[in-house]
Amino acid sequence: MSAAGTNWITDLRRDFDRVFSSSKGRTHVIRAPGRVNLIGEHTDYNDGFVFPMAIEPEIRFVCRSREDGQVRLTSTEMGQKESVASSQNSGAGSRNASTDYRLLDSQFSRPLASFSLNEKIVPLDKHDKDAWTNYPRGAIAELIAAGIPLSGMDVLLTSSIPLGGGLSSSAALLVGTARCALALAGLTMDPQRLALLCQKAEHEYAGAPVGIMDQTIIAAARAGTAMLLDCRDLSKRFVPLDAQELRVVVANSLVKHDLGAGGDNEYAKRRRQCEEAVRFFATPPIGNPAVKSLRDVTLQQIDQAKGKLDDVVLRRARHVVTETARTARFAELLAEKKYEQAGDLMLQSHASMRDDYEITVEEVDFLSAEAMKVKGVYGARMTGGGFGGCIVALVQPRAATALIEHLTRGYADRFGKRPECFVTTAADGASIVA
Ligand code: GLA
Repeated sequence: MSAAGTNWITDLRRDFDRVFSSSKGRTHVIRAPGRVNLIGEHTDYNDGFVFPMAIEPEIRFVCRSREDGQVRLTSTEMGQKESVASSQNSGAGSRNASTDYRLLDSQFSRPLASFSLNEKIVPLDKHDKDAWTNYPRGAIAELIAAGIPLSGMDVLLTSSIPLGGGLSSSAALLVGTARCALALAGLTMDPQRLALLCQKAEHEYAGAPVGIMDQTIIAAARAGTAMLLDCRDLSKRFVPLDAQELRVVVANSLVKHDLGAGGDNEYAKRRRQCEEAVRFFATPPIGNPAVKSLRDVTLQQIDQAKGKLDDVVLRRARHVVTETARTARFAELLAEKKYEQAGDLMLQSHASMRDDYEITVEEVDFLSAEAMKVKGVYGARMTGGGFGGCIVALVQPRAATALIEHLTRGYADRFGKRPECFVTTAADGASIVA
């Protein structure tokens, strides 16, 4: 490991000892990355394909076991956001993969949140100041429900994944917490099983009806590759991203999305519209009972449904059906190094999300269109759940800096704020670092 790689571990351990001074016990350092999806949006809960990779921004955890069944958590990023923001000179635009959040003693006069394994673990109300702990609560509760014996623990975590940016800080928090608890118990778990367990935790403790993409890539990513995940049978193909030939650039619009609690949000609404489409395509005489999900529907069937199925529902289904096909093709093209054609599919994907699925906002439309004005950019599209968040661009290495400069200038002129941009390589899935 490089010197830079070990420094943060020493620093974070020292910070941990300052916060949890009296604790003794087994200690581990864990990391869980964020993710960016190169293509395949809102296809996971429709049994389709997705093509994400893990990114360098990550959540880092120091955890130490406790014998009294208490789980105590504190964070430099969540819960006391304001004091953290004012204590670090990292204005918008300056945050990147190598940024570490510095800790102040005053933040740690007490642990931020705690719960006990000796009682039933319940989610907090979403307005509770400690509502972010619903992710750790959910992860721990689901491990216990799976019959895994756990001890209590103290956890200090720090994150460089932008919150609400569509880069899966929530799934990283879930998977990372579960890895902490398992490591302290001296156990490992198959990454896909862990991902499914964390997805259940997100449904039940955060009220977010998410698919399986984020947890899977965060638990099971392999450095240097993107993962073609078939969400029907959870089979995976890892496709190398040639670092000599490609860069992945992420630009955060800073428009926050919220896929969280409640059935009334747009994400849950899209899921219901997809279910409605499935019912239509599965019901005779027009439909076929063999149709179990939009994965089973063809573009021809979509065309035939025009005028018979509600237009909004039809467009939602068309996005999913075309996006699933694009995603499988994109993985092939990338493996064959046909970057220009792959880039075209990213543009089609963006247009489909904008026009058929209606999940983009003006700011991300602007960023993805502007990206294409820079020479050497193969493709750009919104990534993640939508309604803000980030775009991802696939670019020639020499174009990365020009792209970031162009987006930063153009976005500031148009919207009066700097997007947070960074270049990232494909990182490894969550791991025990020490
Ligand atoms: C969020 C969800 C994923 C997926 C994407 C959209 O990130 O967590 O399961 O549905 O939105 O592709």
